[in-house]
Amino acid sequence: MDLGLSGRCALVTGASAGIGMATSRMLAAEGAQVVLVARRLDLLEELAEEIAAEGHPRPLCLAADLTDPSAAVRLRRQVEERLGLLDILINNAGRAEPAGADLDEALWQSQFELNFHSKRRLAQEFLPLMAAGGQGRVVNLVGILEPVAVSAAQAAVAACILWAKGFSRTVASQKVTVNCVAPGRIDSEQLRTHFPTQEAREEFARKLIPAGRFGTAEEAAALIVFLASGPAGYITGETFTVDGGMHRSI
Ligand SMILES: NC(=O)c1ccc[n+]([C@@H]2O[C@H](COP(=O)([O-])OP(=O)(O)OC[C@H]3O[C@@H](n4cnc5c(N)ncnc54)[C@H](OP(=O)(O)O)[C@@H]3O)[C@@H](O)[C@H]2O)c1
Repeated sequence: MDLGLSGRCALVTGASAGIGMATSRMLAAEGAQVVLVARRLDLLEELAEEIAAEGHPRPLCLAADLTDPSAAVRLRRQVEERLGLLDILINNAGRAEPAGADLDEALWQSQFELNFHSKRRLAQEFLPLMAAGGQGRVVNLVGILEPVAVSAAQAAVAACILWAKGFSRTVASQKVTVNCVAPGRIDSEQLRTHFPTQEAREEFARKLIPAGRFGTAEEAAALIVFLASGPAGYITGETFTVDGGMHRSI
């Protein structure tokens, strides 16, 4: 299938690791001009080198801390100046800090900035460019909504899913689709901080994941890239899980 991504411009947040890195590689392999965003610029530059060495368009690397409310405007200005277009926004950066009911106010704020507000702001900032290109795509990385206790990250993810549903309806007539992808347990830098040993990962998978293993970043990226593609133009306002069958409603 031709994904229609050649010559399209895609910005991926959280491109320095895990799912964002795998998604960036896949988009570039499909011929997209990729903009890599994260705090660790050295890792972005390494990835850009690797992608260019494989003969794909060299990505633009932009350092940003997405807990900073001014980051979205700055990124939009930089992309407008350097490239002049943007078709695809992959709102992937996110992190769940250990968070309980007694969590301090600053951590609640930063968890909402990163896991919700930054995604909403970037989509709003880039909407005119995405609409102008006639094939706009927003994909938000969220999570499965089954908190076992108070979690600032999960509350922010819930906000993101509801915002995305409303936004998808508002922008549909501008040929921009908006979807969410909810990973279950995908092996990544972040997951390895929660499950540091192979033993811990295998035990969790044996008990709770019907597929019997954690997913790979590439398995999540494949869905994200499809949702970003031309043929996915009639899919909008949805949340899709990638979890090896882990989630159930009871
Ligand atoms: N892996 C899973 O099973 C799983 C499950 C549920 C949800 N998710 C969600 O899926 C997304 C990707 O997860 P992952 O597991 O691939 O994560 P990861 O390996 O930890 O990578 C996270 C990425 O986000 C970036 N990031 C973190 N804080 C940032 C900040 N303040 N400003 C800018 N960038 C920031 C990191 O880059 P820098 O450190 O260089 O800034 C990194 O590139 C996240 O939104 C995560 O919450 C993943």
